[in-house]
Amino acid sequence: MGNLIPIVEFANLLTKHHPQFSATVLIITMPQRPLINTYAQSLASTSPTNIRFLLLPTVDPPAPDHYQSSVGFLSLLIQKHTTNIRDALLQLAPTESTDSTRHSVRLAALFVDMFSTTIIDVAAELAIPCYLFFASPASFLGFMLHLTRVDSAESLNSEEEFPVPSFKNPLPRCVLPNFVMKGNDGFSWIQQHARRYRETKGIVVNTFPELEPHAVQSLSCDSNLPPVYPIGPTLDLNGSAQWNPNPAQFKLIMEWLDQQPLASVVLLCFGSLGSLKATQVEQIAIGLERAGVRFLWALRESPKAQLEDPTEFENLENVLPDRFLERTAGIGLVSGWVPQAKVLGHKAIGGFVSHCGWNSILESLWYGVPIATWPLYAEQQMNAFEMVRELGLAVGFRLDYRTGGDLVWAEEVERGIRFLMNGADGIRSKVKEMSEKCRVALMENGSSYAKLVSLIQELTS
Ligand SMILES: *[C@@H]1O[C@H](CO)[C@@H](O)[C@H](O)[C@H]1NC(C)=O
Ligand SMILES: *[C@@H]1O[C@H](CO)[C@@H](O)[C@H](O)[C@H]1NC(C)=O
Repeated sequence: MGNLIPIVEFANLLTKHHPQFSATVLIITMPQRPLINTYAQSLASTSPTNIRFLLLPTVDPPAPDHYQSSVGFLSLLIQKHTTNIRDALLQLAPTESTDSTRHSVRLAALFVDMFSTTIIDVAAELAIPCYLFFASPASFLGFMLHLTRVDSAESLNSEEEFPVPSFKNPLPRCVLPNFVMKGNDGFSWIQQHARRYRETKGIVVNTFPELEPHAVQSLSCDSNLPPVYPIGPTLDLNGSAQWNPNPAQFKLIMEWLDQQPLASVVLLCFGSLGSLKATQVEQIAIGLERAGVRFLWALRESPKAQLEDPTEFENLENVLPDRFLERTAGIGLVSGWVPQAKVLGHKAIGGFVSHCGWNSILESLWYGVPIATWPLYAEQQMNAFEMVRELGLAVGFRLDYRTGGDLVWAEEVERGIRFLMNGADGIRSKVKEMSEKCRVALMENGSSYAKLVSLIQELTS
């Protein structure tokens, strides 16, 4: 979802700016992830007619002995779709010999995402210009490119900290993504993808230079890199309110927020794949209650099987301390899935404890809500490091938390939340300024707007 949503928004941007364009989004589905189908169905009914969604036929997932990391799994899964994607592209733009009666359609470009570099070969075979769409920050793009110059995961892990051109500060080892730390196949997959980024005609990144000045600048100094187009933030501000699995709950949340004072509520939400173990849930509950701050807590149960999404708890009381819901009824709401962007846009929200997925960071900056960082997986520890140490735009609650091993005690939760809501004034005002800059970047002649125009010029030339 984290890669799919921004690419759909990017398709929206392109077709709005240049109405002669139409876009087709190819979507990989899996029986274990029904949310993707729900999302795709809702899009098909609400999107403009010049954007289409094509669900690729499902394939058997890669065999477990063929990969060791989540990146390995994803990369192999996408590889197995090569023929499906080739067929889909041929259907979209029949060549003259196959269909001379149809009005000719030219494929102006194919945008592949960060783990789909194997599709670059399909684009080359069919002579379609191929671009990369990168849904993570420019700092992480720089990190991936840097890894192509590192010998092995072992040499990366031999130093406590090391320089990476897209970061001003040396990068501490403790914020490296799991998939390059563990000495499994994740490292070589990342290297392989990053090498191939250089073969594309351009790299579209969901960021803007006012947010990541150093990282964006460092990419433009890399003379072997194709042009980089920071066109962000591309955001789905209606978000899951439109395809919400539970509209009744959404209504209840918004009504509850309507009754809370301005900027008084802290939102705790860990993303569509985020869930915490029971001992951690308990410590958060105790800390929240002690902090005495108003809260909205999106609490979800860990996946019941491999590859599945977290689910809603059948009975919240089973995971929360005894009578917690009763005691906090006046100041807090514990819910399942929340339409995060809609909630962040509510004036009652004053702080956000976030897993630091890049889309969540962009949404909270857009609405000027300061984050306390609680990363879980993927590149989230590095995103947290960037927000806190590089940019001074978030409260550094935890930088190196990892799903599984760590436990944050109640005292720490209490202190962190108090500071986010009642201290952190400097960060709060910087976040408000950045919120303004997000909007300016997208306006006519703003930096992202200008990059989009230059990309469209290239696509149409
Ligand atoms: C967002 O939702 C509102 C109604 O809640 C609707 O009017 C608007 O068209 C939606 N925007 C998009 C981009 O879907
Ligand atoms: C954007 O730039 C063009 C060319 O410099 C100018 O004509 C136009 O008025 C500008 N638009 C805005 C909204 O500033």
